[in-house]
Amino acid sequence: ELSGHEHYMLKEMREQPDAAETCLRGRLDERFATARLDGIGLDAREMRGFRRVKVLGCGSAYYVGQMGAQMIEDLARIPADAEAASEFRYRRPIIEPDTLYVAVSQSGETADTAFAVSEIKRKGGRVIGVVNVVGSTIAREVDGGIYLHAGPEIAVASTKALTNMGLAFAMLALHLGRLHDLSFADGQRILRGLERIPAQITQILDDEPAIAEVAGEIAQAASTFYIGRVRGFPVAREGAQKLKEISYVHAEAYQTSELKHGPLALINAQMPTIAIIPGDDLAKRNVAAAEQVLARKGPLVSITHPGVELDHLGVRSIVVPKNEPELDPILLTIPTQILAYRAAVVLGHDVDKPRNLAKSVTVE
Ligand code: BG6
Repeated sequence: ELSGHEHYMLKEMREQPDAAETCLRGRLDERFATARLDGIGLDAREMRGFRRVKVLGCGSAYYVGQMGAQMIEDLARIPADAEAASEFRYRRPIIEPDTLYVAVSQSGETADTAFAVSEIKRKGGRVIGVVNVVGSTIAREVDGGIYLHAGPEIAVASTKALTNMGLAFAMLALHLGRLHDLSFADGQRILRGLERIPAQITQILDDEPAIAEVAGEIAQAASTFYIGRVRGFPVAREGAQKLKEISYVHAEAYQTSELKHGPLALINAQMPTIAIIPGDDLAKRNVAAAEQVLARKGPLVSITHPGVELDHLGVRSIVVPKNEPELDPILLTIPTQILAYRAAVVLGHDVDKPRNLAKSVTVE
């Protein structure tokens, strides 16, 4: 079944362009510059009535949920945030009637997320799923949802399902945006961006050898930082999670903006930092933070876009093709998968089945 690939994780990373195509197929509505998401099963009036969106998931699904919440705020201008479903279920959550709850899960079987769904439903809340496995526990219990169509995912560390979660959120954000104030032209801009994503993923995967080089160095570190700001922060969190999960190298994600408020004290020649630096309106500030790291002799790798001026600093850059700013986090995440994968391979770990972890945690 590995069909020539060394590991399932590698196979699944390489399946991403096709998986992304399948996820988008039939859902991009040119006529109204929106996304058609018939599986949600809520009519336009009800969808328009939500004044808040709350995303729930665990692990990587939670981090993508954070990306998704940002997309919803950006495109629909509805307050949105993400929370770990594992925390939500234990804290007497307030269920509001005008909140749209979104449960994210590859397997659809994660106990913490499934329990959060049941609790929301018990209290009369509206909850939709962003789920890969058709007919799974969460898929059956939600009011409706968006299937990921990523195909089976075997490796514990999620890659293609995760990318499709990002796409599903982008389409949900576009859909909500077009029910509110997002213009036809902006809707088209996002549609064009989504269409470019599969080919851009291929471009990133083609850069694998360059990323593998960096991974060799990261694998030798005792501890690393992943830093990102606003849209880049969930990318940093997901990147740090992947490195920890499969290479067992310690990684801590931090907001770039908070660097000077604490973690800068830890930077030295033994502490590599992976900086997410999109070519957006915050690039200058992010480059300034990178300079702070370099000034303390911290090894620095950037995951960045063409045109961001870093070369003069002697930083090693992994350059990712640019899309629309709202969609860029989906693509910026992909090098972090490759980095974690290659670091784990260098260290000789069982990439597909990391110690102490299960693909889906179905018990408490
Ligand atoms: C964790 C896995 O236990 O569950 C993570 O180790 C995964 O890799 C998380 O992201 C959530 O799983 P699911 O199936 O709900 O997306």
